[in-house]
Amino acid sequence: MGRELTVALVGATGVVGAEFLKCMEERNFPVGELRLLATSRSAGRQLEFRGELLTVRETTHDAFDGADIAFISASTAASKELCPAARERGAIAFDDSSAFRQEPDVPLVVPEINPEDLRDHHGIIATPNCSTVPLALTLAPLMRERGIVRVIADTYQSASGAGGAATVELHEQNAALAAGEEVVVAEHPRQLAFNAIPQIDVFLDDGYTKEEWKMQVESRKILHQPDLALSATCVRIPTEVSHAIAVHAEFDRPLSVAEACALWEHQAGLTVIDGRAPGAYPTPLDATGVDDVFVGRLRQDASHPNGLAWWCVADNLRKGAALNMVQMVEWMLNDGCL
Ligand SMILES: NC(=O)c1ccc[n+]([C@@H]2O[C@H](COP(=O)([O-])OP(=O)(O)OC[C@H]3O[C@@H](n4cnc5c(N)ncnc54)[C@H](OP(=O)(O)O)[C@@H]3O)[C@@H](O)[C@H]2O)c1
Repeated sequence: MGRELTVALVGATGVVGAEFLKCMEERNFPVGELRLLATSRSAGRQLEFRGELLTVRETTHDAFDGADIAFISASTAASKELCPAARERGAIAFDDSSAFRQEPDVPLVVPEINPEDLRDHHGIIATPNCSTVPLALTLAPLMRERGIVRVIADTYQSASGAGGAATVELHEQNAALAAGEEVVVAEHPRQLAFNAIPQIDVFLDDGYTKEEWKMQVESRKILHQPDLALSATCVRIPTEVSHAIAVHAEFDRPLSVAEACALWEHQAGLTVIDGRAPGAYPTPLDATGVDDVFVGRLRQDASHPNGLAWWCVADNLRKGAALNMVQMVEWMLNDGCL
């Protein structure tokens, strides 16, 4: 038997936490001991892992003692405190928040794109934003063949991207509307049910939101393209799980639809569904609960001779968060750098 890890999972009771448990079970992830951690509100709750009930504990710094790795998926504020604490106690912290993604000594990784970056860490490793992962995974294989001049990416992001409470609120808003009752709005800036909200995270001085900025700077870091020109508009829509992105990319030379498709077909982690029959494209429901990023609606961009347009969809809780982090550890174990 190979090495078994002692794993601390902070945020075990959240929507991403639930996906961690599923991914680790499904992939036979080498867990020896699993410590489920959350806030004092959840202490004592029991969650099932591999047929056993495990008790959730309040997160204390001692909880990292003797852990090999800590998956930290709670909030940016919690990560700022807990990643350094886990590192001090000897664990490698895999962080799901935006707290450390832009630090030069923190690898920001999609294992199918830049796994070698994992070798050069200093105890904290970050996973990208849930919309950046599918965007980068569709761009990476094309960029190996052509230079990219410019990318426009517009997202259609599900309620669960804002956490468990936001998901519950969408169901409550739907139920309230069906019953003719008043809609309560707490988790998003506007009513989400039967609506679309062109704001995710806070506004920055230049008029972009922080989510849009994250897509720009995180794509640059993952793809090792510090000057990549990328503009995003991030929109919350009333789906429950999986984020979709409409992408327009301009290359330095023409790239045909057939060439792009062939490159995608060889990219691990991507599935192409690109027919012209009604419905022959991926939707958020198709991607939910599935590991791969789906891509389709590929066409020549009518506005530019060197342009392509496409649509991609991925499970934000899985490849956009938990699965990507589990895959990082698997790659490191295989590589021998963990
Ligand atoms: N949802 C997504 O699609 C997605 C994608 C990528 C990254 N992320 C990031 O992943 C993290 C978790 O997101 P989520 O969607 O799973 O949120 P969520 O459903 O609201 O769950 C948050 C989890 O974090 C725990 N928590 C909160 N503050 C904590 C603290 N100070 N110490 C310890 N545990 C704490 C909560 O515990 P209690 O249950 O006790 O409150 C809960 O288990 C966030 O940083 C988010 O930005 C989310």
